Amino acid sequence: MNILGISGTPRKGGNSEILLNAAMEPFAENGWKVTKILLSEKIINCCTGCEACCKTKKCFINDEMNEIYDALDKCDALIISAPAYYRNVPAQLKAVMDRTFAVREKFPLKGKLGGAICVGRGQSGGQCIVLNIIHNYYLSCGMLCVPGELNGVSAVADKPGDILNQPQRLEQARILGRNILKHIKDVR
Ligand SMILES: Cc1cc2nc3c(=O)[nH]c(=O)nc-3n(C[C@H](O)[C@H](O)[C@H](O)COP(=O)(O)O)c2cc1C
Repeated sequence: MNILGISGTPRKGGNSEILLNAAMEPFAENGWKVTKILLSEKIINCCTGCEACCKTKKCFINDEMNEIYDALDKCDALIISAPAYYRNVPAQLKAVMDRTFAVREKFPLKGKLGGAICVGRGQSGGQCIVLNIIHNYYLSCGMLCVPGELNGVSAVADKPGDILNQPQRLEQARILGRNILKHIKDVR
């Protein structure tokens, strides 16, 4: 079994990456293969809207998205962790979401389980909006959304690593991972 974690922040070692690491821990403990993709290390071009993929079923852009297509195919469950950027997902993550339009008819994520994590600096910084955006993406892909303690993990942190001072929030990320492990037995 293979869990894929995508860290949507362009900032290396950011809070969302740290929360993602916590969410992955239960999978490693249960013998799953853990695959992590850090968008801070990738250059993913934006969808150009050419819709050539409607005929070819693949994207004409040849870049690091190829690795992500492959990882989406191979995973059994997916967790996306992202910071709030203007109460939205960062552009790097939106580019990944849009580029999966090219493979939508292959349904690489259909029936798979998905969890979402968002961190922002504000108490009401749009974390719930970002969680909705990720969950709506999952639903568009035919996925099943798995909650954490609440409807996804919502955290408040600013400087890189600030989240390490919040053990309760890190535990909520682990709970999200454990919930996916629990529910995957029901859908298999
Ligand atoms: C371009 C930009 C936009 C941001 N917009 C928001 C926002 O709308 N709401 C919020 O709470 N924080 C916002 N922030 C703060 C980040 O979400 C916050 O610093 C977060 O901890 C960054 O996560 P990371 O460490 O994973 O990169 C923004 C930061 C940047 C750079």
